[in-house]
Amino acid sequence: IIIILDFGSQYSELIARRIRETQVYSEVISYRTTVEQLQEINPKGIILSGGPNSVYDAGAPHCDRRIWDLGIPILGVCYGMQLMVQQLGGEVTRAERGEYGKASLLIDDPTDLLTNVEDATTMWMSHGDSCTLLPSGFEILAHTENTPCAAIADHEKKLYGVQFHPEVVHSVGGQALIRNFVYHICDCEPTWTTAAFVEQAVREVRGKVGDKRVLLALSGGVDSSTLAFLMHKAIGDRLTCMFIDQGFMRKHEPERLLKLFQEQFHIPVEYVNARDRFLAAIAGVSDPEEKRRRIGHEFIRVFEEESRRLGPFDYLAQGTLYPDVIESADTNVDPKTGERVAVKIKSHHNVGGLPKDLRFKLVEPLRKLFKDEVRKVGRSIGLPEEIVQRHPFPGPGLAIRILGEVTAEKLDILRDADLIVRQEINRQGMYGHLWQAFAVLLPIRSVGVMGDQRTYAYPIVLRFVKSEDGMTADWARVPYDLLETISTRIVNEVPGVNRVVYDVTSKPPGTIEWE
Ligand code: XMP
Repeated sequence: IIIILDFGSQYSELIARRIRETQVYSEVISYRTTVEQLQEINPKGIILSGGPNSVYDAGAPHCDRRIWDLGIPILGVCYGMQLMVQQLGGEVTRAERGEYGKASLLIDDPTDLLTNVEDATTMWMSHGDSCTLLPSGFEILAHTENTPCAAIADHEKKLYGVQFHPEVVHSVGGQALIRNFVYHICDCEPTWTTAAFVEQAVREVRGKVGDKRVLLALSGGVDSSTLAFLMHKAIGDRLTCMFIDQGFMRKHEPERLLKLFQEQFHIPVEYVNARDRFLAAIAGVSDPEEKRRRIGHEFIRVFEEESRRLGPFDYLAQGTLYPDVIESADTNVDPKTGERVAVKIKSHHNVGGLPKDLRFKLVEPLRKLFKDEVRKVGRSIGLPEEIVQRHPFPGPGLAIRILGEVTAEKLDILRDADLIVRQEINRQGMYGHLWQAFAVLLPIRSVGVMGDQRTYAYPIVLRFVKSEDGMTADWARVPYDLLETISTRIVNEVPGVNRVVYDVTSKPPGTIEWE
C-alpha cells in the first residue's frame, strides 16, 4: 500500500487513482495521522499531497515531524514538497512570479525518480511559493524556467519532492514518474487487480456475514448491480435482492434489469411493484422539494414493509464508494483561516437514502473502490455496457424531470421522448462523451401546426451536459444534425409533444436537473 497524506488538495483522490492505475493499492488519509499509526499501516511509500496553504500560514497543516526518519520512501507534491523542505531545514519563499499551468520540465538528473521521463516534457504547475534553499543531503533533479527546484531528492533517504502535479492529465510524463516512485523506489508489486479485489471482497464478506442473512436494494445502477453480483458470489441464497419499482425509471429499464439478474446471472430478485403507491404519494404536488421529500418518505415506508415481509435480515448491503469514505475524513483546510472545511458540497441530495436508525448492520464491500474501479469490476463480472457506463440518474428519477405535477400520462410522454434521446445519442456514438443527456417535460403548452392542424401541446427540453463530477457542468455543443433528428422524431413519434428546445445554460448558474 502507498499512503497519501492529504493536506487539502483537490487532487489527493486523483493521486490515489493514478497509483491504483499502476495496480498498487493506495489510500488517502489525514495529514494528522501520527507516526505510530503509519507504522501500524506499514506502507511501502508515502505521498504528501498538495494543498491550498502556504507553509508559513498560521495554522497551515503540518505532518508528524518524525515522519522523515521512518525509513519509508516519501514523495512530496507541491505543498507536500515545500513542507518537506521547510521541516528539514531548507527554505521556502513566496516567488516573485507564481507559476500556473503548463511548464517545460528541464531534467538535470535523468535517473531514479525521472527515469523514462523525457527532457522538456510538459508538467502542470500551480504554485505561488517556491523552494529557495535545499535541506542538506538534497539535490536538484529538474528545473523549469521559473522554478529552480522543480524536482528534488535525497537519494540516500529516499525523500523526493516535485513542485509540479504529476497526477493531472496535463502532466505528460506524470505517470512515468509515478511508476518510478511506486515500482523502483518503493519496490511495490502490481497486485491490485480486479480479480484480486473480487477474491478478497468475497472472502471478507463471508468472514463478516457468516451464516446470517443480507438484504440489498437493487437500483439498476452500476454500483448496486456490481454489489449484488459480488454479494451473491460470496453468500449465495443468503442474499435477498430487492428491487423497488417506483415507476420513475426509464423505458424498459425495470424489465431489463430483472431479466439480466434472473436469466443471465441466475440471481433471484424480489420485484416490488410500487408504481401506484409512489404516484399517489406525489399526486397534486408540484413543489420540487416536496416531491423529493414524499418520494424519499415513501421509499422508506415500502422498504421497511418489504424487508419485514421478506426478513428478518441481519445485514444491509450498501454500495458506499471510496470517495464517500474520504469525504467524511474531514481533512480539507480553509486557506485563509486554517480551519478544516468540507470543500465538496455533496452532489447527490439522495432520495433512496435510508434512515440512520435502521436496525441493520452494514456490509459495504465496495468502500475501497473509486467509481472507475467499480466499472472495471462490473465489466469483469459481465455487466452489460449499458449498466457499466450508465449516466448518473437521480434517485427520484423521471419524477423530477416532469416539472410540476406528475401524472401517469406525463410519465408516458417523457419516457417515450427520453428513449428517442438515448437511441439517437447512442447511434451517434455520443453517449460516452456526455456526462448526462436527457429529456425534461415542461408543464406548459404552446401552439404548433402539424399537417393542416393546429396543435396545442407540451414542449420537451433537451438537457445535454459535459462535466467531470457533476459539481460544475457545461452545456454540450452537439451537432445540429443530431438535435434535428431528435426533434423530428420526438414531435412525430410522441403524441402530446409539439416542440423541442435545447438548454444552453451551464452549471452554475443552472443546475443539471431542472428540479
Ligand atoms: P444538479 O441538478 O444538482 O445535479 O446539478 C447534480 C448531479 O446530481 C444528480 N441529482 C441527483 N441524484 N438524487 C440523486 O441521486 C437526487 O435527488 C438528485 N438530484 C440531482 C444529477 O442527475 C446530476 O448528476
